[in-house]
Amino acid sequence: MKSVVIFYSLDGHTKFVAELLAQELKADLVELELVKPFPTKGFRKYFWCGKSSVFREKPALKTKIPNLQEYDLIVIGTPVWAGNCASPINTLLSIISNAQKLQGKKVGMLITNSGGSIKGCVKRVKKVLSENEFLEPLYFVNPSKDNKDEILKKIREWVQSVDLG
Ligand SMILES: Cc1cc2nc3c(=O)[nH]c(=O)nc-3n(C[C@H](O)[C@H](O)[C@H](O)COP(=O)(O)O)c2cc1C
Repeated sequence: MKSVVIFYSLDGHTKFVAELLAQELKADLVELELVKPFPTKGFRKYFWCGKSSVFREKPALKTKIPNLQEYDLIVIGTPVWAGNCASPINTLLSIISNAQKLQGKKVGMLITNSGGSIKGCVKRVKKVLSENEFLEPLYFVNPSKDNKDEILKKIREWVQSVDLG
């Protein structure tokens, strides 16, 4: 089984867990970077990122999306922004649905947030990739180096429990 973890992270939380998951899955890791990065501080961060999510913007990606045909499992990693996926995931989804057919691929979701719901984000991705088989979403609330052991335990349990066959 060849896997890829493809993620966006503004503040590093999703990146932290994406790296750990990729290690456990022996997956390739692709970080989505933007042509025009979002502000990372204060009110401007919440304003611009929140607006971008609410209006379902598709910010241009600097990262070239690899050929996903090569993979059996594609894990999409994102923080939750205003109850939905971070807007760079909209760009990824539109590239995938327009340019790449992912027939027969399994899709996983790796989500981080600060305690709200992950449902809106899961629903968005499932709607676009409606033909794909989805694994149980893997999510973390405020993941950090301080709870690395707990995170690794949850990742390992997830890897064991989902059907990767
Ligand atoms: C603009 C914005 C909106 C957010 N909205 C939510 C939300 O609706 N629910 C929630 O639980 N956390 C929300 N958060 C918190 C992030 O999902 C959380 O801090 C996440 O782990 C950040 O991931 P990152 O460090 O990879 O960017 C929001 C953060 C930002 C910047």
